[in-house]
Amino acid sequence: MPQRQHYLFVCLNKRPEESPKGSCGAKGSEAIYDALRKGVFDKGLHHQVVRACSCSCLDLCHIGPSICVEPEHICYGRVKLEDVPEIVQALADGTVVQRLVIAPEEYDRAKKGS
Ligand code: FES
Repeated sequence: MPQRQHYLFVCLNKRPEESPKGSCGAKGSEAIYDALRKGVFDKGLHHQVVRACSCSCLDLCHIGPSICVEPEHICYGRVKLEDVPEIVQALADGTVVQRLVIAPEEYDRAKKGS
């Protein structure tokens, strides 16, 4: 298989509902992952353009469901199932869904307890 232009890493880590840290899996990331794979396939992007991969915790639990996009080296946060078509279209267009990009200050939010 050829190297793709973009790789999506979708966190599927799942902690118990009562976990204070929360998890992407508990917030529906598996359905998001399945929809991304289907969306990429349906647009014919799977061979050359995009590979959607599952992964474990990206340490963005407080802002999940989270997805990292490489090689752009950006991460999307608070992703919802209804965001998937826009994410797929952005990949097809070579753009970024700016409203989902995690801002630099949000990476440390959990550490600061806010
Ligand atoms: S559980 Fe998804 S980023 Fe930690």
